Amino acid sequence: MRTLVCLSLSLASLAAAPVAPKKKPEPAKPLNTAQKADYAKVIQPMFDAHCVSCHGPKKEKGKLRLDTLEATLKGGKNPTFVIGKPDSSMLLARVFLDRTAGDVMPPKDEKPMTEKQKEALYAFVEGQTIPEELVKAALADTKAALTAAKSAPKAKK
Ligand code: HEC
Repeated sequence: MRTLVCLSLSLASLAAAPVAPKKKPEPAKPLNTAQKADYAKVIQPMFDAHCVSCHGPKKEKGKLRLDTLEATLKGGKNPTFVIGKPDSSMLLARVFLDRTAGDVMPPKDEKPMTEKQKEALYAFVEGQTIPEELVKAALADTKAALTAAKSAPKAKK
């Protein structure tokens, strides 16, 4: 008799238990010093050159700003990335899409990022210190993009 009561009691409490809350997206871990330095040196200039015109103080497409580390980690309508999980990063996925894909970032008409820039970004999201050779190559490409943008100002849309 005793066990029966117990059983029905626990069943009742099970039924009353609230629906399990939806799993929250993983919170971004704070970056270590080396990662912060890589972001400032390599990633932010890359975003400034290719993304901030639409994801910054003037425009906030997709509710996303990429003009500071805090804003980048905060994400937009969706999370951008979690360090150490490159394969579940929406931002990386869109940057690595084929240039013909509708969702590719920066959008089709914009100057694409180079392979070296993308590799550096991937390494950063992986959580590794960006290898020195890649840092140099990515910085050179970012500089070239900035120079090109300055010498040929685009007509305003
Ligand atoms: C010419 C404007 C433009 C540029 C430049 C641009 N984007 Fe976007 N981006 C958009 C628009 C518009 C959206 C919102 C619609 C959508 O999600 O496709 C968007 C959305 C996004 C989103 C999804 C945001 C969310 O939370 O849903 C990501 C991630 C993103 N962009 C990354 C980038 C990155 C990284 C760059 C630079 C390499 C970049 N974008 C450059 C226009 C731009």
